[in-house]
Amino acid sequence: MDEHYDYVILGTGVTECVLSALLSVDGKKVLHMDRNQYYGGEGASLNLTQLWEKFRPGQEVPKDIGRDRDYAVDLIPKFLMANGELTKMLVHTDVTRYLEFKQLAASYVYRDGRIAKVPATEMEAVRSQLMGLFEKRRAKKFFEFIQNWKDDDPATHQGQDLDSSPMTKIFDYFGLEAGTRDFIGHAMALYLDDSYMTRPARETYDRIMLYTSSVARYGKSPYIYPLYGLGELPQGFARLSAIYGGTYMLDKTIDKIVVDDSGKFVGVRSGDETVKADALIGDPTYFQNLPVGGKNLVRETAKVVRAICLLKHPVPNTDNADSVQLIIPQNQVGRKHDIYVASLSSNHNVVPRDLHLAIVSTIVETDKPELELRPGLDLLGPIHEKFISLTPLLEPIEGGSESKIFITRSPDATSHVETINEEVHDVWRRATGGKKLDLKKRSDEEGAQVQA
Ligand SMILES: *[C@@H]1O[C@H](CO)[C@@H](O)[C@H](O)[C@H]1NC(C)=O
Repeated sequence: MDEHYDYVILGTGVTECVLSALLSVDGKKVLHMDRNQYYGGEGASLNLTQLWEKFRPGQEVPKDIGRDRDYAVDLIPKFLMANGELTKMLVHTDVTRYLEFKQLAASYVYRDGRIAKVPATEMEAVRSQLMGLFEKRRAKKFFEFIQNWKDDDPATHQGQDLDSSPMTKIFDYFGLEAGTRDFIGHAMALYLDDSYMTRPARETYDRIMLYTSSVARYGKSPYIYPLYGLGELPQGFARLSAIYGGTYMLDKTIDKIVVDDSGKFVGVRSGDETVKADALIGDPTYFQNLPVGGKNLVRETAKVVRAICLLKHPVPNTDNADSVQLIIPQNQVGRKHDIYVASLSSNHNVVPRDLHLAIVSTIVETDKPELELRPGLDLLGPIHEKFISLTPLLEPIEGGSESKIFITRSPDATSHVETINEEVHDVWRRATGGKKLDLKKRSDEEGAQVQA
């Protein structure tokens, strides 16, 4: 191969495929490779045979749980926010034309030993089972404050300042209970920890507005999900990249990452070919057991434990919702990390008609990871099949400006893509030498095609 590329990209996860699409559209020459025969990398959607190959190698696939074509089980399930940035990116780039989305039926949160719908408006706050009578009134006032806030109208500020006050101060002003702060911070603003409390309230305000405006878009929950699994998403971006000249190669063994004496990237060797490029972008698993120029480029920061569960019923106590995002805030179960439950069904073409899928995940804190999922697993009722996985969370040790090797972070334990957006922005900035990702904005009315 004599061709010279601007970027070689390793791994076809969502983050990498979004980046390759954006770079191709930007006029860059991109070669994208994956060691697997399928798209998606760590976040692929597997069929029944692949599921057994991965989790029950050598064992026969049961005959009574459907056929391959009924299955598209995400190894890392993630939902999109209807008004989130990735959705906007999909619309802006027209990738939506390759995909069909369906909205998620419900968004739930765990509080005081039971689950309830996350209220998204002051009206819902008043009816919510999450709070007692007096707390509902306080929450209603809080949500009214958020909804009515206008930067240029001090009358709507109630003496508060979103830019200088920490979020705790706003919570204090409305006298909200700790458990209410938990669901607002973790199930609406989707924070991974409580450090947001001490940062300016503006950030939390923006996230709550994203949540409520996303709910308002299609009505039931703020989340949407692609039919046939999240693995459709990287494939959609890959198609876009291809239209703009990007080249894709699956099933490629990566033998060596070649660098010069100073450690600067030269090319990628696969078999007896070396592909040369100005820069490399790669998912961190490609660097895990492959030191570059004798140097380790990634480190493990934590592990995620996930349980993929097949159920013969919807998640109990959700009004038979065919799909649900359920968050168990860390404080509610005495943990340092939230537990996420993502549930889907045949309505999303990911399991056969009589089955439901529920994937429980969290960041590992002890030496008994599976036990840590218990608060989530206990909410599911009888579990028909369960596949447990433990995956390291990897991150780059260096930014890559010297080596021209730009490594992404592993997808985290959350079941939404908002953290992927940040990752795309971060790698884009690093890999383009500080350029800010600027998406031409289309009309806000133009959303993704979403089924009710
Ligand atoms: C399921 O996966 C297997 C193994 O990768 C593959 O050979 C087969 O074509 C897939 N089946 C369908 C229906 O996608």
